[in-house]
Amino acid sequence: MRRRSETYKIVTKKELAPKEKLFEVEAPDIAAKALPGQFVIVIIGEKGERIPLTICDYDRKKGTVSFAFHEVGKTTKELGLLNEGDCLENLTGPLGNPSEIKNYGNVLCVGGSIMIAPLLLQVKAMKEAGNRVTTVIGARIKDVLFMEEEAKAMSDQVYVATDDGSKGYKGLDFLKEVLAKEKFDRCIAMGPVVMMKTVSDITKPFGIPTIVTLTPIMVDGMGMCGVCRVTVGGKMLFGCVDGPEFDGHQVDFDELIHRQRLFLPEERVVSELWELEQGGCKCGRSKA
Ligand SMILES: Cc1cc2nc3c(=O)[nH]c(=O)nc-3n(C[C@H](O)[C@H](O)[C@H](O)COP(=O)(O)OP(=O)(O)OC[C@H]3O[C@@H](n4cnc5c(N)ncnc54)[C@H](O)[C@@H]3O)c2cc1C
Ligand code: FES
Repeated sequence: MRRRSETYKIVTKKELAPKEKLFEVEAPDIAAKALPGQFVIVIIGEKGERIPLTICDYDRKKGTVSFAFHEVGKTTKELGLLNEGDCLENLTGPLGNPSEIKNYGNVLCVGGSIMIAPLLLQVKAMKEAGNRVTTVIGARIKDVLFMEEEAKAMSDQVYVATDDGSKGYKGLDFLKEVLAKEKFDRCIAMGPVVMMKTVSDITKPFGIPTIVTLTPIMVDGMGMCGVCRVTVGGKMLFGCVDGPEFDGHQVDFDELIHRQRLFLPEERVVSELWELEQGGCKCGRSKA
């Protein structure tokens, strides 16, 4: 257990895309144990909320872990304002179960939006385990797509897709043709819940085991509060200690989407109040 006097210094800050950042943070205890698929819980300040973020890299020698985040609400926006040299109040981890990495044969890895960053850690591990890896990276529009070169360097084949077709394929429907031509032994999908549901629906008729990373609302991340309940194969499980990875063909995605949106009105108010405090909001009004 780390003492509070020890700091979690941000050693690298990278802008991946507008509102999407990657931090490399000094955390030797976490770096020593971290594995692909696990996550950390970040606390920014003394009164800050706990936000779970997936580990997208670790360096055991340097004693650092990296995570990438999308600025969606108050805490992630505050996090985005921190800079290299700043310290986090606390970082807990590694949490959750590591991914099952072994030689499956032919693996399809699909990453959407900010989760492209942690997906590439799995791509790397799957390659090192001897798999042939096809990677799909997707985003809403081409301007927020990142790490294409990194994906190409690690994978045997890369496809790019955007929701509006501004780069690569339009949507993920093209995957049906890919799967009809080539046999895959495993699929990994990480990204927005709707995207993981779409990928699971596409792979199901082909009988490809599909692993998704679920992101229910979490508090402690250690199996104590029950907030992160998800239904998988008709059973109630905890996202934090039973996951975060689950069989995508068994997940009740509709329930997950509903539960993720439970606090949306409150989250919007908190985020807009915070923006006003910062001196402006989306409508362009200034603080004064
Ligand atoms: C295991 C796990 C791994 C995750 N990995 C990543 C990642 O690598 N990168 C990334 O950008 N995001 C990731 N998330 C989602 C991230 O935790 C939320 O976006 C973040 O907590 C939002 O906080 P906020 O205060 O900025 O936004 P808020 O305004 O509080 O919330 C915005 C939305 O984020 C979700 N959310 C809010 N609080 C939590 C919470 N405590 N736990 C989970 N979801 C929450 C809700 O759906 C909510 O509607 C992950 C979530 C989980 C559970
Ligand atoms: S976050 Fe509390 S039980 Fe999973």
